[in-house]
Amino acid sequence: MLAHVTATRYVTPLREGGSLPGLMEADDLGTYVVKYRGAGQGLKALVAEVVSAGIARGLGLPVPDLVTVDVDPGLASGEPDEEVQDLLRRSAGLNLGIDFLPGALDFDPKAFPVDVEMAGRVLWFDAVVGNMDRSHRNPNLLQWRGLWLIDHGATLSFHHRWSSAQSYDDRRYDASDHALIDGSPDVMAADAVLGRLLTGDLIEAALADVPDGWLLDEADVGGPREARAAYAERLAGRLSARPAWLPDLAASAARRGRPAP
Ligand SMILES: Nc1ncnc2c1ncn2[C@@H]1O[C@H](COP(=O)(O)OP(=O)(O)O)[C@@H](O)[C@H]1O
Ligand SMILES: [Mg+2]
Repeated sequence: MLAHVTATRYVTPLREGGSLPGLMEADDLGTYVVKYRGAGQGLKALVAEVVSAGIARGLGLPVPDLVTVDVDPGLASGEPDEEVQDLLRRSAGLNLGIDFLPGALDFDPKAFPVDVEMAGRVLWFDAVVGNMDRSHRNPNLLQWRGLWLIDHGATLSFHHRWSSAQSYDDRRYDASDHALIDGSPDVMAADAVLGRLLTGDLIEAALADVPDGWLLDEADVGGPREARAAYAERLAGRLSARPAWLPDLAASAARRGRPAP
């Protein structure tokens, strides 16, 4: 289970991305980027954040710590932006907090080159969870004493349509605009190591971190227990289907890494 905190002060909205998360202080004296349950992307985005970050952490990829955070909408009464006020009003209760990395810089491949091994691991992970939010324009990578992965709300897209979710397993991962594709990512080396680390136990532990109340939108698959089983089945299916998508991913990474003639 994730640690739980209560927000004590609203600091400011974060406007870099699309979902308008808020920066908040909490009763554990921590500062968190809060992703709201009432945001347009809904609870599914919070589920995707928790599950994919849990998997990343288990694979040894750096992700900030997550907590659940109780938010009283009254905290932001001084915030002039109507959109923020609406968001807060819709988000009373349990939201997602992401440990704030103070002074983190946006990813710049020229200033912070990523080695081929790390690039391969990030690309492999993104292909497993279907992350479409790691592009050159919007890398969702931070530099803070090393490289950190953030913003996994758009992963696990199969949960938007459970009736055809199985088609996700062998879907091609389009890496043509991936933020690290030009760094010669060694996808096959990543596969050899991470493929063994990504066990059913690891997937189950990541799913156990999701609060039951966030799984109620998956009513078409049943209650929280059935929902976790459905996610676990799809992730296992994606892993087993590697022969269908991995060679293509490795080939596109190799093509891009080769200098132009
Ligand atoms: N843990 C963090 N530490 C520092 N800055 C963060 C952190 N998480 C997010 N940010 C900043 O907030 C922005 C928005 O967060 P993100 O998770 O990408 O949400 P979205 O893109 O959905 O709005 C990021 O681009 C980054 O600049
Ligand atoms: Mg983002």
